[in-house]
Amino acid sequence: MQNYVLILDFGSQYTQLIARRVRELNIYCEIHPYNKIPSNIDDFKAVILSGSPNSVRGEAVLHPDLSKLRHKKPLLAVCYGAQYLAHFFGGEVAPSNTREYGRANLSYVSANELFFRNIEVNSQVWMSHSDTIKTLPKHGVLLASTKDVKNAAYKIEGEATYAIQFHPEVYHSTDGKQLLENFLVHIAKVAQDWTPNSFVDQTVATLKKQLGNDKVVLGLSGGVDSSVAAILLHRAIGKNLYCVFVNNGLLRKNEFTNVLNQYQGMGLNVKGVDASARFLKALEGQSDPEQKRKTIGKVFIDVFDDESQQITDVKWLAQGTIYPDVIESVSATGGPSATIKSHHNVGGLPDFMKLKIVEPLKTLFKDEVRRVGASLGMDKELLGRQPFPGPGLAIRILGDVTREKVRVLQEVDAIFINGLRAWNLYDKVWQAGAILLPVNSVGVMGDERTYEKVVALRAVESTDGMTADWVNFPYEFLQKISNEIINKVKGVNRVVYDISSKPPATIEWE
Ligand code: XMP
Repeated sequence: MQNYVLILDFGSQYTQLIARRVRELNIYCEIHPYNKIPSNIDDFKAVILSGSPNSVRGEAVLHPDLSKLRHKKPLLAVCYGAQYLAHFFGGEVAPSNTREYGRANLSYVSANELFFRNIEVNSQVWMSHSDTIKTLPKHGVLLASTKDVKNAAYKIEGEATYAIQFHPEVYHSTDGKQLLENFLVHIAKVAQDWTPNSFVDQTVATLKKQLGNDKVVLGLSGGVDSSVAAILLHRAIGKNLYCVFVNNGLLRKNEFTNVLNQYQGMGLNVKGVDASARFLKALEGQSDPEQKRKTIGKVFIDVFDDESQQITDVKWLAQGTIYPDVIESVSATGGPSATIKSHHNVGGLPDFMKLKIVEPLKTLFKDEVRRVGASLGMDKELLGRQPFPGPGLAIRILGDVTREKVRVLQEVDAIFINGLRAWNLYDKVWQAGAILLPVNSVGVMGDERTYEKVVALRAVESTDGMTADWVNFPYEFLQKISNEIINKVKGVNRVVYDISSKPPATIEWE
């Protein structure tokens, strides 16, 4: 890809947000680790240095090779980047005396500076740092201050290098996007030509060239990513794309048939494989969440392998991997971050399948996948689907999984999801579902004592699943859903609503 913006990552929690904001300006960008600058520097037009949890004064200084970039490319240094330029090029960085975390307002902005085009004094910015820049580097010129941070923004005379202490990528920096536009569009002159349509045209052309007359197999999950990947590939290679949609017996009620029909309606060459019995048999007696995930992952590979073997001469395996899955971010601790849950759909299939991998969406963020899907003319309902985990209801049935428990949970889940649609709430929620708890509780129905299962309802708001908050539904809605579940689903006599945020809880219970 040419004409892109290079974001060098120093491990900040906000690095992906920088990329998101740049893409919102219709500019393509890529995140690379700070010490892996791409060799072909002609391909990128500007560089952004991210923030970092590390300090430029500590032992764990992260040193980028700036000699490859300065004077050659317009450069914007954010937070750690700004401190790095100051500390190692003639200025001074010291621990701050005052708390510099949260909202601040620009108290001074250099007049007539293109960098601050359309940004006024008082504009709110977001600070998050414990070191502060005491003196600017050699040839540094002050551009903006806040009450507590004198050197909040500066440039370096004689080169297109700008540095800011605050985070323009965070929504709380109200003019952050404007500032990025000023730097990228007006100073670095990067073209704003990254749109869903241009992505589709380019990707279809590349796929045609890459795949020629080869056959490709793709596992559809019913989710947005694999569906959009399929439609893109279908546009490029038509019937040479063989889709397989596996029923693992852990999908939502009627999902297998409905989604299969939908895929066929879109003209895809798709085979539905009902492997429910195989999955449920393999899961028998397993109650550990990670064990269940592994079993499901393994059976999926077996089923998928059996199916691919039946396609003569298939050469490629297509996957709906998206950008957040592949970004090779720098970890603050220098090692891989702790595994909370093994989300098995990342990492692909094992080597024995001997297929080459094609991942047409691997440069896109989730909302961009949806926009690309829309520009491909895909159904709104399919594109608006909430995420659903690969292991499906197995990780929403706490403890061991049986066919009967799946049936109960499917009924409960369907009432909840249909209710969300009926109350016009479905699109306002990032993800919702029901959880079958491994406890019985006492109830009374008519004059009879009952001793039946408890279900929990979970619904969250989120942007990326990394953090999430529970949804504050109208009481009337919760009351209606709870009544309907208890009245209609045999075996359930109690409904609770999960009011935990992530962190410290996770979205799924297992
Ligand atoms: P957690 O529970 O980690 O979930 O807060 C974050 C997002 O990931 C989904 N999830 C999974 N997706 N395989 C998947 O494909 C899995 O094993 C898995 N576990 C959680 C979850 O539904 C939420 O969207």
